[in-house]
Amino acid sequence: MRIRPTRYALVLLGVAAGGAHAADLTLCVDRSSPMAQTDVAVAQAVGSQTHAKTKIHYFDGSGDDDGFDLKEFNALAKASCDLVLGFPVDADAPGLPEGMRATTPYGHTGFVLVLPSASRATSLDGLAKGTRVAVTYQTTPNLFFVAHPTISADVHLTDDDGLAALDRGTVGAAMIWGPTVAKHLKAAKETQRFHTVELTDAHARFDLVALYDDAHAEVAHRFESAVAALNTDGRLGKLLSPMAMAGAATRTPAPRNALWRSPRDTTASASCASKDTKPPPLFTTAQADAGATKYSDNCAQCHGPTLEGRAGPALKGKHFANPAANFHVGDIFTIVSQNMPATQPASLPQDDYVEIMAFLLRENGYPAGSAKLTFDEAKQSKVPLVSNAN
Ligand code: HEC
Repeated sequence: MRIRPTRYALVLLGVAAGGAHAADLTLCVDRSSPMAQTDVAVAQAVGSQTHAKTKIHYFDGSGDDDGFDLKEFNALAKASCDLVLGFPVDADAPGLPEGMRATTPYGHTGFVLVLPSASRATSLDGLAKGTRVAVTYQTTPNLFFVAHPTISADVHLTDDDGLAALDRGTVGAAMIWGPTVAKHLKAAKETQRFHTVELTDAHARFDLVALYDDAHAEVAHRFESAVAALNTDGRLGKLLSPMAMAGAATRTPAPRNALWRSPRDTTASASCASKDTKPPPLFTTAQADAGATKYSDNCAQCHGPTLEGRAGPALKGKHFANPAANFHVGDIFTIVSQNMPATQPASLPQDDYVEIMAFLLRENGYPAGSAKLTFDEAKQSKVPLVSNAN
């Protein structure tokens, strides 16, 4: 998965829900998620709706990217969960952890624009030229600046840091994961000072689903029926309203098969397509060669000498350039030129960024040609980012 909605979504990647049959229904909730309270309420309502003996199993999905032991987590989830609640799926690029299935969405959430209450803006377009907007590292709103060149990113390590910057007035707005905002505003009783607007940009909206594996299809079906009943009589909407996001009632879920293509399916079909349509040459060999050196000097410490990833994610292969993510060269170039190096964003000369981009593309199997890549071309490029490297 590329830029992930939140860290706890990442730790759920690769979860294999497994069977605990002590209770009729064991629902797992990530207690570190800002949605935990809502998930618990949904779980309880599903329990009483189905008259099943319901057990809620808490796990802690927090922890930093390196410190969290995914294997341990998988073992825990496997032993303890029929369904894992609260998994956010990008409505514009649905994908699930390998081997997992998803229930039909029980709610919707996403990234919201948080504004001082005096602001009249109703979208990013409404922000004054030069507005600095707080965003969290590795979250999709980092991409929204491509389409809105008059505003700029102020990147923070956590959602809370971004909201604090808004509170201090060092930024004019923030784009933050909705559940975090709802929790924060509720806790701080700051609903008077700030208001939120749902972002409609691509990859801003997510469906909330419960994850399960093949062995739990029957339990998942019971969960879905209960959710449908709760939705019909309005109880679900009430449970979800604290998150300030729409309940399932407001949007008709897409037909199941269309929505829940497995990630493997999307990858397979898109990579077949990419074999037929070779990417055009975008840069020269000289640029990529120069970029290799500049990459070692400025990026390798975090992304690894062979782009394999360290403190920063891998910049090569299918995790970096996954066709299912539907990224373009321009999107990634914008991240690189505005947010990298992570410790000193936008500190390199424009040509250096272009050359480093040429190097990254070549490493991902893009061909060199005779025309030089320019900064503006790189930024606007709609060439799909699909790695041909392994
Ligand atoms: C101090 C460590 C550090 C340095 C130096 C650094 N990065 Fe990063 N980079 C990160 C981290 C951490 C992330 C993930 C957070 C984010 O996306 O904001 C990241 C994310 C990225 C991404 C997005 C990857 C994806 O899959 O979405 C790209 C592309 C990238 N870096 C390129 C570069 C380039 C090119 C350089 C050198 C000019 C560089 N980085 C230097 C730490 C670093």
